[in-house]
Amino acid sequence: MSRRARIALKAFVWAACLTPLALLLSRAVTGDLGANPIETLTRTLGVWTLRLLLASIAMTPLRLLFGVAWPVTLRRLLGLFAFFYACLHFSIWIVLDHFFAWEEMLADVLKRPYITVGVLALTLLVPLAATSTAAMIKRLGAANWKRLHRLVYVVGILGVLHFLWLAKVGRNDPYLYLGVLTLLLGIRLWNWLRRLAREGGRGAPRRRLEPSERHAVSPRQSPPSAAPSRDPSRV
Ligand code: HEM
Repeated sequence: MSRRARIALKAFVWAACLTPLALLLSRAVTGDLGANPIETLTRTLGVWTLRLLLASIAMTPLRLLFGVAWPVTLRRLLGLFAFFYACLHFSIWIVLDHFFAWEEMLADVLKRPYITVGVLALTLLVPLAATSTAAMIKRLGAANWKRLHRLVYVVGILGVLHFLWLAKVGRNDPYLYLGVLTLLLGIRLWNWLRRLAREGGRGAPRRRLEPSERHAVSPRQSPPSAAPSRDPSRV
């Protein structure tokens, strides 16, 4: 993808991610937030947090399924927008819902499992957002950074759980998000198993034989391998 196309794509994603917020603000300004404006604000920001989180998680499966690299260049941007919406969602809860009544909020976190799970999800997003820069990747090392950023799947699971827990009986949309998350995690699992099978099929790397060992192996025998082959069921 050319540099110009990449910039255009990112500009489009910026505009798309800011549109829900702009619409919400215009509804707030025109007094069009319904009978319970705080609930409308909390719910709208919450649902966009989850959508952007799932969109960010979807970028690697898209690359795996269609063999194109460009979705991965959007993963960080979408993840940061998910964090931005989560902070706004949380701020509405602190400022408008509880008006900084810290004891009341703590009681809410301890009493309501969906709030506990929401706070945990937001807390786990903090280190991901804080380490999203190229400088942090360098500082942590690619392998550690990758390991840390697998937390996004835990955040996705907690986000869906939060929604399932708070939704009233008869509401079906949380199951749609559960289905999307299950599909995305399924694609990652499928890819992981496929890679494991490919590595297993290629066999473990072979060690060069010492001169003293060579006589013990006939031309038809294979030499002993340096490392035992991996057992996929144990990983
Ligand atoms: C990654 C973190 C989070 C995600 C993905 C998330 C997502 C959501 C979603 C999808 C909804 C439902 C929207 C709807 O009804 O259409 C929601 C509602 C809500 N969330 Fe969150 N949330 C997160 C964090 C938090 C946190 C940290 C808090 C507060 C401590 C919180 C408090 C609430 C409340 C009070 C509601 C409204 C419940 C109701 O309508 O009865 N959420 N959130």
